[in-house]
Amino acid sequence: MSILRFPDGFLWGVSTSSYQIEGAVAEDGRGESIWDRFSHTPGKVRNGDTGAVATDHYHRWREDVAIMAELGVSAYRFSIAWPRLFPTGRGALNAAGIAFYDRLVDDLLRHGIEPLPTLYHWDLPQALDDGGGWLNRATGDWFTDYARACFERLGDRVTTWLTINEPWIVGAFGYYDGVHAPGGRDLRSSLIAEHHVLLAHGQAVRAFRGSGRDGRIGIVLNLMPTYPATDSDADGEAALLSDGYTNRWFLDPVLRRAYPRDMVELHEGIVGPLDFIQPGDLEVIGSPTDLLGVNYYSWRLIGAGQDRDLPWVVVPAPPDIPRSEGGWEIVPDRLTDLLIRIRADYGDIPLVIAENGTIRNDEPRAEGRVRDVERIRFIRDHLVAAHRAIDTGVRLEGYFHWSLLDNFEWAEGYWPRFGLVHVDYRTLKRTIKDSGRYYASVIEANGLDPEDDAALEAVAG
Ligand code: FCB
Repeated sequence: MSILRFPDGFLWGVSTSSYQIEGAVAEDGRGESIWDRFSHTPGKVRNGDTGAVATDHYHRWREDVAIMAELGVSAYRFSIAWPRLFPTGRGALNAAGIAFYDRLVDDLLRHGIEPLPTLYHWDLPQALDDGGGWLNRATGDWFTDYARACFERLGDRVTTWLTINEPWIVGAFGYYDGVHAPGGRDLRSSLIAEHHVLLAHGQAVRAFRGSGRDGRIGIVLNLMPTYPATDSDADGEAALLSDGYTNRWFLDPVLRRAYPRDMVELHEGIVGPLDFIQPGDLEVIGSPTDLLGVNYYSWRLIGAGQDRDLPWVVVPAPPDIPRSEGGWEIVPDRLTDLLIRIRADYGDIPLVIAENGTIRNDEPRAEGRVRDVERIRFIRDHLVAAHRAIDTGVRLEGYFHWSLLDNFEWAEGYWPRFGLVHVDYRTLKRTIKDSGRYYASVIEANGLDPEDDAALEAVAG
């Protein structure tokens, strides 16, 4: 039996986001967000689900922190709801809104859990969207004011900050595919939104440096290793561009202060001059950061073709590739490649896996246990892959499982379950799943035995 040990001080965490878990959308002065508006618009979210109650974390947060303590996690990545602090996105700070996060941070620290807040995980104040949202460059200024308030009020206890969650999803899903709030369907708009979100990130980084607070700050990107579906030249070229679209378009400006040339050319050919990029913007976006959060779920196989404006198509993997219950292809080994590639192409920036998880909809059995053995396997295989990257010298400092709790999965509503903890949406009762127990055992050992199927089965019973 050979145990893979993780480095001392490795952060073992769980991730959530405000709109997906909090509920209490009209309490203590919280303003409307674009996700309240979007989810209440008929046809936008599966089954008409909304985040109005979600997991009721806003009222049950003490119980949720106690569960994290029971699991033994050393860090918690959550997001701060901008519309709780600034109900219309700007103006006066709502004291009751910040008080919630103040209590949460104190309670986490009391339990020895490091708080890692994300400043923007998609719940833009609706009032700002009424003024153009991320299409309006000024939204980045309001974001910076909000970020400054967070640094000021929480920065005496929070020492690691994450600015924006997944700018690609903000742009592509929110402004091009139309499946996320605010529901736009135009490529040029999505590029504008992405640019303004990146600019907001850079502005917040600068505000943090100017705040006098100690600590680290970085962005969270969802990166998808992209491979050509065949070894034809055409598929190879298509895969390179698709990688540019989802990965390099964000990595390059943040870590190299430049948009990738091939993608600038491609985009300009489709949507015209990218004149929303102003002189000096890249210096702001590329302001030095201290760490990079990587969200990893799956890969992409790409072939030549045309999908709306874009010159490639996503090709389904062969049927023998395992899939989550939501159909996402499960390819743990590609996580190793991705982490190594980030280091090779962008240097030795400290990394954390800020999200990684899978859909398994196992329900509690009669005896009350949730035997989600496939999630256990998923965690084990991804940790083995992460460890392999560490062995090659990648500075991976933490792993945050998505998610602590089953929760509101955006346009998919409540049907996909991602949690280590099951939530009964009728009673809001929490039940730690077998995967949660397994994760706790990994944390306790600061490592795992990759061969140990017996242990895996025993946990699952
Ligand atoms: C990521 C999001 C997170 C959750 C997971 C499943 O893209 O950051 O909120 O929806 O996917």
